[in-house]
Amino acid sequence: MSSANVRVPAKINLCLGVGPVRDDGYHPLATVYQAVDLHDEVRAAVRDDDRITVTVHTDLDARSEIAVVPEDDDNLAVKAARLLRERTGVSAGADLAIRKVIPVAGGMAGGSADAAAALVACNDAWGTGLSRAELEELAAQLGSDVPFLLHGGNAIGGGRGETVSPVLARGSYHWVFAMADHGLSTKAVFAEFDRINAGSQVPDPVVPDALLSALRAGDAVALGQALSNDLTEAALSLRPELADTLAIGIEAGALGAILSGSGPTALFLASDEQNSLDIAFALTSASGCADVVQSRGPVAGARLI
Ligand code: C5P
Repeated sequence: MSSANVRVPAKINLCLGVGPVRDDGYHPLATVYQAVDLHDEVRAAVRDDDRITVTVHTDLDARSEIAVVPEDDDNLAVKAARLLRERTGVSAGADLAIRKVIPVAGGMAGGSADAAAALVACNDAWGTGLSRAELEELAAQLGSDVPFLLHGGNAIGGGRGETVSPVLARGSYHWVFAMADHGLSTKAVFAEFDRINAGSQVPDPVVPDALLSALRAGDAVALGQALSNDLTEAALSLRPELADTLAIGIEAGALGAILSGSGPTALFLASDEQNSLDIAFALTSASGCADVVQSRGPVAGARLI
């Protein structure tokens, strides 16, 4: 039976501008995404019946669990496979096996990453032959971050996050991620953003010029100062102890610190490998911090391996 393996990165938002809630309940975003070296793997094996099943494996201590979720419509990877099947008219099923490293509900698009990987894996295993552009169209229907996880590298995100356009960028960056011991719901953080901003005029979001010029120059110090996230107040309102986590990293010499997307993962830009180690060491004592990971970015998007 035919099968395909795909490796897919996590994403971070170097800036996350959030505008006023739209009629469809989503918020317009102006963001710069970067794909980072923290990968899930998704294997799709063709079945001879039409079922689509999924198993999820993770070997990280703090989040160790093996969930077996056959044909669970809530799993975004299953939704991705179903959508590709509808679009192409293929009749085969697939067994999806996900090896999870990206934190669940961590603000790093773990679920979206698996959906992007499932699209690429099933497209190969089923031989449906959709182009990258065609897969991106399906990705946008699955979730705001899914198109970027196909794309990888650095990119500007617009719309509700699903429109991805190129950005001039240089350099490879050292990141440290502090993963929290329990996740935050993206939906809940956006709802808190609306609650905090009720009655006030939220401006249309923009990508700061300072961030774009830092990326163009490959200047890590300037990038550290330009990192920004409009969801910070909302996420800290739901999880106040994250303010201490951010402060610990800055105290340890990080060039910049922000929450990743809707949180609760905190991210720190380091100047080099030694600085990255110092920050990681300091964070191991932060309360509520389940795991600390050193990483690099940018890296490629979802790819067959
Ligand atoms: O697009 P996705 O399904 O990943 O979004 C999850 C939830 O996050 C949405 O249901 C919505 O509540 C919120 N969201 C938002 N505005 C965005 C992206 C997500 O309000 N641009």
